[in-house]
Amino acid sequence: MIVLGVESSCDETAAAICSDNKILSTIVCSQIIHSNFGGVVPELASREHELLLNTIVNQALTEASIQKQDLDGIAVTKGPGLAGTLLAGVCFAKGLAQGLEKPIIGINHLEAHIFANFIANPELKFPFVCLLVSGGHTQLWLVKDMGNYTMMGTSRDDAAGEAFDKGARILGLGYPGGPEIEKLGENANPKAVDFPRAFLKDDKLEFSFSGLKTSLRYHLENHPDHLSQGGLPDLAASYQEAVIDALVMQLERALRQHEVRAFACVGGVARNQRLRQRLDALSVKTGLPLMLTRLPYCTDNAAMIAAIAGARPNQPAGMDLDVKPSWSL
Ligand code: KG4
Ligand code: ZN
Repeated sequence: MIVLGVESSCDETAAAICSDNKILSTIVCSQIIHSNFGGVVPELASREHELLLNTIVNQALTEASIQKQDLDGIAVTKGPGLAGTLLAGVCFAKGLAQGLEKPIIGINHLEAHIFANFIANPELKFPFVCLLVSGGHTQLWLVKDMGNYTMMGTSRDDAAGEAFDKGARILGLGYPGGPEIEKLGENANPKAVDFPRAFLKDDKLEFSFSGLKTSLRYHLENHPDHLSQGGLPDLAASYQEAVIDALVMQLERALRQHEVRAFACVGGVARNQRLRQRLDALSVKTGLPLMLTRLPYCTDNAAMIAAIAGARPNQPAGMDLDVKPSWSL
């Protein structure tokens, strides 16, 4: 089955071709227009998707050496995400599907992130715990089977990626903040500043990052010398370590509470090399295999959208498809 995937839930315009669980091409255009604003501007993002989608889809088809007529279906992100940007992708995909007389399938973006594990690790066995860490979500999932998910915990406030993005803005860095903080703190001291870790009590698998962001702001107000004396890399490394500590601590708790065969981490923040190191260490400590997908499949992409549709060919497909901006799994 040959599927075209289309992704437009936020600020990445993406298209990919998947044939029988093999990714033939994957094109992602990260909209740089938002870097001037320190975050995604929804109206600009929708307009960019409308401008880019046709080119990106044609590029994906050319790279995969596939003709439009060879497609067996078109999969598109239905939600969750920004209403306007989702609409841009769904309208485009509907037009294409109608013109080609092909089925169209709406995909849950979060489920696709979890499924991205299988692109790199087809041998992954159920049940497993999946930490999903992106710009909009920080969630711990117990994945019992394909389509059988239980959410064990989420963030009470900001998502981990959001904590990186907001922290970067406070430090005067660009957007997206995660890679900026990681790069700046690469060879710095993660213990230089002891930022608070919100390890919530009662063995609850929840996260909270808004206090951390506030404490970074207070730290800068109280220690303006830190910046002038070249302390920015240490601040970045310490802030990053606080986010990662909270993620790893709750993941470890989850692994203690449930008997699983492996654990995984997906979403944009899973690109972070320090987090990947810490997860490796957790794998050694728990004796459980760690499944990490390849870096291009961590951040938003259309390969995960096409791949999940290809793996479940009998999904409802039709022109009545609508966006679902707050769709949970
Ligand atoms: O999954 P994703 O591409 O989009 C959403 O679905 O939200 O994740 C984007 C998030 C951003 O907040 C970005 O700062 C974060 O992932 N991110 C990182 C890194 N690369 C991207 N966070 C930490 N370290 C990174 N290397
Ligand atoms: Zn995402």
